[in-house]
Amino acid sequence: MAYNAGMANKKRLVVANWKMNPGTAEEAKSIFSSIKKQAAKLKKIDIIVCPSFPHISIISKLLGPKNIFLGAQNCHTKTNGSYTGDVSVNQLKDLKTKYVIIGHSEKRKEESDETVNEKLKTVLAVGLTPIVCIGESGRDKEGQYLNFIKEQLLKTLSGVSKKDLLSLIIAYEPVWAIGGRVTISGTDMHEMSLFIKKILSDSFGPDYGWHVKILYGGSIESQNAGELIKNGEIQGLLVGHASLVPEEFKEILKAVEGVK
Ligand code: PGA
Repeated sequence: MAYNAGMANKKRLVVANWKMNPGTAEEAKSIFSSIKKQAAKLKKIDIIVCPSFPHISIISKLLGPKNIFLGAQNCHTKTNGSYTGDVSVNQLKDLKTKYVIIGHSEKRKEESDETVNEKLKTVLAVGLTPIVCIGESGRDKEGQYLNFIKEQLLKTLSGVSKKDLLSLIIAYEPVWAIGGRVTISGTDMHEMSLFIKKILSDSFGPDYGWHVKILYGGSIESQNAGELIKNGEIQGLLVGHASLVPEEFKEILKAVEGVK
């Protein structure tokens, strides 16, 4: 399987990570209904909405358009058992969840690479698609952050099969860019995307590493969404705060759809 642009040309993904928002079920329903209206107009995008756990069952009942999928923001490493306060992949699957974000930097504060790796395998084992977040907390002129990315990536994906590598999604989210502060350019993302693919090609073989799906996340707004897709050599975006603002999210979707 040699690299060709056509392979990477499947539908773009836009993930809405609602984090611990909104405050009420009514607001969640209203944001979702506006996303549904937008979805009907899109041909090139699959939208993955990731509500907080209490809102997953509510949104699950409102699914409909074929290009909107339900995602979760986290899960436990085990599929069931005595783990007070946690949520299992089986429970998520039962509510029609198809994707699970794992290793988000806001969770990595309390989770090791090994824990994220365990979650990754659990998500894959039940047939859900992991969206695996990686990203450095800062950049240095010497490029040490690249070593950090390499180590984090390889530890997180340790023991994953070649076939599973092609079904998972990597979300590159530099921690310093999260939360509406600053974003990277499409050109910088292109370099990072090549770097990630090179590491994975060296480890899994070029037929696999080169075809992994990569998203960018961190301060995505309507002004930068199109440029990152156009120049970043990525399959999509992971959107945080802007996914809760219907007008802004609509413009992000339009920008992504508009890129040739
Ligand atoms: P942000 O969040 O878009 O608000 O920067 C992205 C994320 O944390 O996934």
